Amino acid sequence: MTVNITESAQSAFIQQQPIKMLIGGQWVESASGKTFDTINPSTGSVLAKVAEGDSEDINRAVAAARKAFESGPWPKLTPSQRGRLLWKLADLIEQHAEELAQLETLDNGKPIRYSRGGDVPLTADHFRYFAGWATKLEGDTIPVSIPNMLTYTLREPVGVVGQIIPWNFPLQMASWKLAPALACGNTVILKPAEQTPLTALRLGELICEAGFPEGVVNIIPGFGETAGAALAAHLDVDKIAFTGSTEVGRKILHASEGNLKKVTLELGGKSPNIIFPDADLKYAVRGAMNAIFFNQGQVCTAGSRLFVHASVYDQVVSGLTGAASKMKLGQGIDPATELGPLVSHEQLERVTSYIATGKREGAATTTGGERPGDELAQGYFMQPTVFDQVRDDMTIAREEIFGPVVVALPFEEIEEVAARANSSIYGLAAGVWTSDVKKVHKMAASLKAGVIWVNTYNQFDAAAPFGGYKQSGYGREMGHAVLDAYTQTKTVWVNLR
Ligand code: NAI
Ligand code: MG
Repeated sequence: MTVNITESAQSAFIQQQPIKMLIGGQWVESASGKTFDTINPSTGSVLAKVAEGDSEDINRAVAAARKAFESGPWPKLTPSQRGRLLWKLADLIEQHAEELAQLETLDNGKPIRYSRGGDVPLTADHFRYFAGWATKLEGDTIPVSIPNMLTYTLREPVGVVGQIIPWNFPLQMASWKLAPALACGNTVILKPAEQTPLTALRLGELICEAGFPEGVVNIIPGFGETAGAALAAHLDVDKIAFTGSTEVGRKILHASEGNLKKVTLELGGKSPNIIFPDADLKYAVRGAMNAIFFNQGQVCTAGSRLFVHASVYDQVVSGLTGAASKMKLGQGIDPATELGPLVSHEQLERVTSYIATGKREGAATTTGGERPGDELAQGYFMQPTVFDQVRDDMTIAREEIFGPVVVALPFEEIEEVAARANSSIYGLAAGVWTSDVKKVHKMAASLKAGVIWVNTYNQFDAAAPFGGYKQSGYGREMGHAVLDAYTQTKTVWVNLR
C-alpha cells in the first residue's frame, strides 16, 4: 500500500528539529536541552524530535502563567474580548483543519476519516461553545434573612491551572481542558501525553496567532513521571485537571496535598453496554461495534462489557463477530482504514497480555486476538477481538483493557443485569438498547454511571456534561457543569444600614 501524506502534514511545523515548547509566549528548547522522539504507531518510525520538559521547565511555565494571571493584559480583558479570542482560535483551527487532522493521525494512529470528521471539527466546536460562556458567568443576589444586607456572589477564575491530558484524543482533550479554563479567565500550563505531543503544540502556535496574551497558555511536552509529576505537585498551581488512568489519578490526588490545590479527574472505565431482546438488533450490533472498536477501543467510555439477553445472545455475538472480522485494518493516514494501530508499543503489549490472560482464565475468542502480519507488522496493530464464554469475575471482564477487545456476557433478567453492570469499581458510561420505554427509564435510573446512552453510544457534545461516578473520577467536563471546576464563588456582604 502506498500512502500519500499531503504537504500540509509535512508543514514547517513538523520539520522543526526539535519541536519546541511554549513558555510565556516564547517557543523555547527545554532547560536541560533534552528531547524525546514521537513515533508514528502505524509504522513504528520516528515522526519528530520534541523538546522534553522537566521540573525546571514547569517552574518557568508556572511563573509565566502566574504573571499573566496577576498582572498581564489578560485579567483586564473584558469577557467579550476573551470570548472573541476563543472564537478566533476556532476559526484558525478550521482554517488548518487538514493539517491538524493529518498530524493527529500520524501521531496517534487513528483513521484519518475520524480525525477529519470528528476530532478536528469537534475541537473547533468546543472553543466556539465556550467562547459564548465567557460573557455569561453570572453570580447571584442572595435573599439573606438579615435586614439591610445586600448579599451577592461573584464567579472568579481559580487562577493558575495545570492540565494533564492523555493520548487517545490529543486535540480534543486539549480543547476540553483549555476552552472552559480560558473562558473563565484562568491561565494554563498544558502537558500533552508523551505519545502524542504534536497537535497540542501546533494548537499552541494557533493560540499565539489568535492573539492570546503571552503566558496565558503554556505548553510543556514531556513525560508523566517528570514533567507531569512536577506540575501536579507545584505549590503555585491552584488547580489540576487530569484525564488518564485511575492509577495516575490517585498520584495526582496525593501530589495535590502540599497546597491543597483543587483537582478534577476523568479516569478509566469498564462500561456496560446492554442489549435487550426487544431492541432493533441490527442497529444494536452496529452500536456495539462502535462502542468498542471506535478509536481502536482506546476510549475511556468504551463499551467493553457487552451484556446480551440470553434469547438473542447467539444472534448478536455472531453478528458482531462477522462485522468485526470484516473491519479494514490499515495505516491511519489511509482513507480506507477503519481500525488503526494502538498508540504505542507499550499499549500493544498491555492489550496483548490481557488477551492472553483472557484465554488462560478460560474465555474464548470468536474473532481476532492476533496481530495482523505482512505490511502492518511494523505498526502496533491488534485485530478487533470478541470474547465469548466469559465470567464476570475474569480479569478481562473487570479491568480496563483500552484496546479493541470486548467481552460478551449473557443475562436473563433486568434486575440481574443492572446489578452485574454496576458491579465495577468504575462508573463512567453505560449503554442500553431496547424499544421498551419502561426499560429505558428503569435502567437510566439504576445504572451507576455519569453518562447513559439509550439506543446510541459514544455521543459527545460541548453542551452535555460528562464525567464519572465511583473510581471513574470526579468533576464534570463540558456544558455549564464544567464552569464550577474553573471558577470559585466569592460572596460579598454589603451593610446598607
Ligand atoms: P497515564 O494515566 O499514565 O497517562 C495520562 C497522562 O498522565 C499523560 O499525559 C502522562 O504523561 C501523565 N502522567 C503519567 N504519570 C504521571 C504522574 N505520575 N504525574 C503526573 N502525570 C502523569 O496513562 P497511560 O500510561 O498512557 O495508559 C495506561 C492506561 O490508562 C491505559 O491502558 C488506559 O487503561 C488508561 N487511560 C485512560 C484514559 C482515559 O481517557 N480515561 C486515557 C489514557 C489512558
Ligand atoms: Mg502511564
